Amino acid sequence: MDPGPVGAAILVVVSRLLVRRSGPLRGEVTISGAKNSALKLMAACVLAEGRYVLRNVPDISDVTHMSSLIEAMGLTTRRREDRALEIIRGPDVVPEAPYELVERFRASSAVLGALLASVGEARVAMPGGDDFGSRPIDMHLASLEALGAEFELEHGVIVGRAPQLTGAEVVLEYPSVGATENLLMAAVRAKGRTTIRNAAREPEIADLAAFLNRMGARILGAGSPTIDVDGVDELRAVEHTVIPDRIEVATFLAALASAGGEITLRGARADHVDLLIEKMGRMGVRISPEQDGLWAMASGRPKAVDIATLPYPGLATDYLPLLVAVLVLADGTSYATENVFAGRFRYIGELARLGAQVRVDGHHLVIDGVGRLSGAPVRAVDIRAGAAMVIAALRADDQTMIYDAVHIDRGYERFVEKLAGLGADIERVPPD
Ligand code: EPZ
Repeated sequence: MDPGPVGAAILVVVSRLLVRRSGPLRGEVTISGAKNSALKLMAACVLAEGRYVLRNVPDISDVTHMSSLIEAMGLTTRRREDRALEIIRGPDVVPEAPYELVERFRASSAVLGALLASVGEARVAMPGGDDFGSRPIDMHLASLEALGAEFELEHGVIVGRAPQLTGAEVVLEYPSVGATENLLMAAVRAKGRTTIRNAAREPEIADLAAFLNRMGARILGAGSPTIDVDGVDELRAVEHTVIPDRIEVATFLAALASAGGEITLRGARADHVDLLIEKMGRMGVRISPEQDGLWAMASGRPKAVDIATLPYPGLATDYLPLLVAVLVLADGTSYATENVFAGRFRYIGELARLGAQVRVDGHHLVIDGVGRLSGAPVRAVDIRAGAAMVIAALRADDQTMIYDAVHIDRGYERFVEKLAGLGADIERVPPD
């Protein structure tokens, strides 16, 4: 029976995923647009009046949340039939991100720089902590202050004012993705030149800079540690295609390493995942770039490898839970170190429910590969941890029920359908 639109929404929010031991995976899957780029491009649409068309924006709940946020600011959004997202920014913007919207997803702080640059003020509820640590935004604020913005915290709301932003040299203490993005969105309208040193180098930064340049900004060096931005007086609305999601690529490669098989990832960009390809090669996965994608093959038990996360071009923190979910079944002991988000290990307890043997020592993991996992009820504690549960469950005996699948839906477009299309035995289960 068709549950209808309201019923369907409830189904997604409270649903669980049932995964049975699967493999080998076979076939082709198309990689969606990058969540962490799309969300920032949507925020950047606050900068100039007009009609934007963003192609390849994934249909995931974090994008729905960002749409609600910019709509609350007075913009309109519409998903077109060709699946592009059309955003219209009129002459007026309400410079406010209320708590009810901000608390749903951390990327909401991305509107700060764009609001200050376009309307000279911003009232953004302070984002809270989340499941992998406190995640402060002190660097965002300090770098915007360097351009002349002033901030006060009033009743849990960051109130920012910047009648005139002025270019400056800003040295980031750490190459924070979010701080670099906020700074870029502010600097494009600042008076004079801004130089960002120790900037984040993630492909999503380069995508945002390409979008802003298309709008008329003058940014040089995005993707490198030093970015120069010459402020301009005017920006215009444009069309843009979001880069493919490298974390989704990592997720399907990890699923393949777990279940075995041979797959093609259509649209994946090898140049965004070169270190990942190298690491997965050592785990025993054969990967080769193809025109417009990647081909990959895996069979047998994965080999143990040591991994450590670092800002790009290092191995992404978002890959770690995905790779750990493979290494729990590896032939030997692997050591994994999380250097970006110290508190990102809550999923280890869930993997232990499947029989994984992982010891947490500070920000290190010692993973003793086991010969078998046994299906059990587990929880998705965040987006990537949820995907990690699915990856491990593909290899676990019998069946695994994954609760709180809503986290997976925040970041993965049609995840269940895509995996099932490759032959995985996975389904969404309605609540009891
Ligand atoms: C982005 O988060 C991504 N989120 C994360 O993906 C990703 O894990 C992370 O970058 C690292 O690649 C989005 O793009 C929406 P950071 P962000 O600022 O910008 C500390 C996913 O699942 N820090 O580079 O928040 C911070 O606590 C998500 O898709 C400060 O101390 O990451 C962390 O330890 C999860 N003060 C480190 O820097 C600040 O002001 C890196 O954070 C800012 C950050």
